[in-house]
Amino acid sequence: MNRDGENESLWQFTMPEYVPKHAHLPTTPIDVVVVGGGITGLATALALQKGGKKCALLESHNIGFGTTGGTTAHLNTFFDTTYAQVADRFGAESAKLLLQAAEQALALIKGNIDTYQIDCEFEYKDAYLFAQNDDEIRQLEDLTDGAERAGLQMPYTGQLPVTLSFERAAVVSNQAQFHPAKYIYGLAKAFEEAGGVLLQHCMVQSFEEKELIELQTALGSLKTKQLIWATHIPSGINVFSFRCAPYRSYAIAVQVAPQQYPKALVYDLQDPYHYYRTQIVNGEPYLIFGGEDHKTGHDEHAADHFTNLEAYLRQYFDVQQVCFRWSSQYFEPTDGLAYIGHMPGHSENVFVATGFGGNGMTYSHIAANLFSDVILKGRSQYSEVFNPARLKPVTGFSNFIKENADVVKEFIGKRMSVQKIGSLAAIAKGEGRVVSYEGETVALYRNMNDELHAIDPVCKHAGCIVQWNNAEKTWDCPCHGARYSIEGTLLTGPATKDLEVVKLKE
Ligand code: FES
Repeated sequence: MNRDGENESLWQFTMPEYVPKHAHLPTTPIDVVVVGGGITGLATALALQKGGKKCALLESHNIGFGTTGGTTAHLNTFFDTTYAQVADRFGAESAKLLLQAAEQALALIKGNIDTYQIDCEFEYKDAYLFAQNDDEIRQLEDLTDGAERAGLQMPYTGQLPVTLSFERAAVVSNQAQFHPAKYIYGLAKAFEEAGGVLLQHCMVQSFEEKELIELQTALGSLKTKQLIWATHIPSGINVFSFRCAPYRSYAIAVQVAPQQYPKALVYDLQDPYHYYRTQIVNGEPYLIFGGEDHKTGHDEHAADHFTNLEAYLRQYFDVQQVCFRWSSQYFEPTDGLAYIGHMPGHSENVFVATGFGGNGMTYSHIAANLFSDVILKGRSQYSEVFNPARLKPVTGFSNFIKENADVVKEFIGKRMSVQKIGSLAAIAKGEGRVVSYEGETVALYRNMNDELHAIDPVCKHAGCIVQWNNAEKTWDCPCHGARYSIEGTLLTGPATKDLEVVKLKE
C-alpha cells in the first residue's frame, strides 16, 4: 500500500496494494459518485450501495493513500473541540447531537465489522486524559464538565495506564481502536461484492452540473446524479480552502519494555497534545505515540518532529527500538466542527465532507451516516449542526481569516525573495530548497545518489510557493495544503495538476 510521503506507516507495512475488480469507468450514468478512497469515501459508498444506489468510488492513487493510511486510529466519542466549546459556540443541543452522532459513528464501524466479517483487530478501550499543571487542570475540568452536560460521562481517576506523572486524570469508557488499513480493505471488498464500482488511479479533474453531473477523470468521463467529495478539501478553488487550515501530525511506533505497553488510549493536554496507544501487528506489540502537529509548509525542520517525539518518549519509557515513523495531514475547521452536507455554491446534488481536524476516524462515519440519511431517506437530524454553508464567527475566527490572508501575502512575498545561488553545487545531498538560479525561481532537491530534481515551485492551486518537507521528502504548499513529490507529481489536493519539471543548463 502506497502513501503520500517517503515514510512507511505501521499500517502500510502490513498491507499490499488493494486490487479492485474494475478497470474501466461505467459507460451508463450512475446514481452516486464518491470521490476519495479513504475511510470516509469507502464507508459512505458502501452504505449507499447497500441502500440500493448504484455507486462508483474514484480514488486518485490507491485506497488509504492519504490520511487513512497515516492515522493513529483512535475511535473516540470526544473531539479536539470540546463539548463545552461546542455548547458555547453552537448551543447545548448541538453538543448533545454531536455526542449522539459520534456514538452512532462508532456503532456503524462495529456494525460494519460484524456484518462484513472484517478482521481488523477492533477493540473497545478506555481513554484517559490527564493534566500535569494548573492550566491543564482547569482545561480538564472544563472538558469533563462540558462532556457531562452533553451526556458523556468522564469521571476522575487516580490512576493512569502509563508511568507519567500527573495532577489530575479523567477516564471515558467505550472508546475503541482498530487497524485502519485492514478495515478499509474490508469496506472496499464489501462495496465491490455489493456491486459497487471502485477505481483507483482515477483522479477527478473537473465536473459540470448539467441535467446530470458530468465528471472528467483521468480514465475518461462519467455521468452521475449525485456527487460526494470525500477528499478532505474538494479540488480547485472553493470556500473550503479558506475555512479549513491544513496541518501535519507525526507518529512513531516503537517497542518498549513488555510491562510498559498501555492497555488503554491515553492523551495529555499539552498544546499540541500527545497521544499513546498499543497495537499488536503480526503478533508483535507496538506503542504508537503521536503529536507535534503544525501547519503544513510552515516548518523548515519537519523531520525534527520525529526526533522530538522519540526524545520525549524516552524520558518515560524504555524504548528498545523505533520501528516506524510517519506523518499525515488533516484539515482544521474555522469554528471547530466538521463541514458535512451540501456543498455551497452547487446544487442539492453535490455534497462534501471536510474539516475533520484530528478526529477523522469518528467523523468519517458521522459523514457516512449523514449522507445515507440525506440521500436514502431525504433528511438527517445532523444536517444543521454540520451544515457546510454555516458561517459561524467564533473566537479566533477573524484571526483565522487574517491568517489566510497573511499566508498568501507571506508566501507570494517569498516568491520575490528566495535566495540566489550561483551554482547548483550549493544544494547538498539530501537537501531541498527553493532558490533563484539564473534568473529563475526553482525548487531543487538533490538525492543521496547526487541526482538533482528541479521543478517549478509555483503551486498549481492558487500560485503560492511550495516549501520543502524534509520529513517526507515532499514539496508542501503552505497556503491550502497541496503536496507534491520530488518529481512534481501531485500527492494531495486541492491542486489538480502536477508541478512542471524544470530543465537546467548546468
Ligand atoms: Fe492553494 Fe497551493 S494549495 S496555493
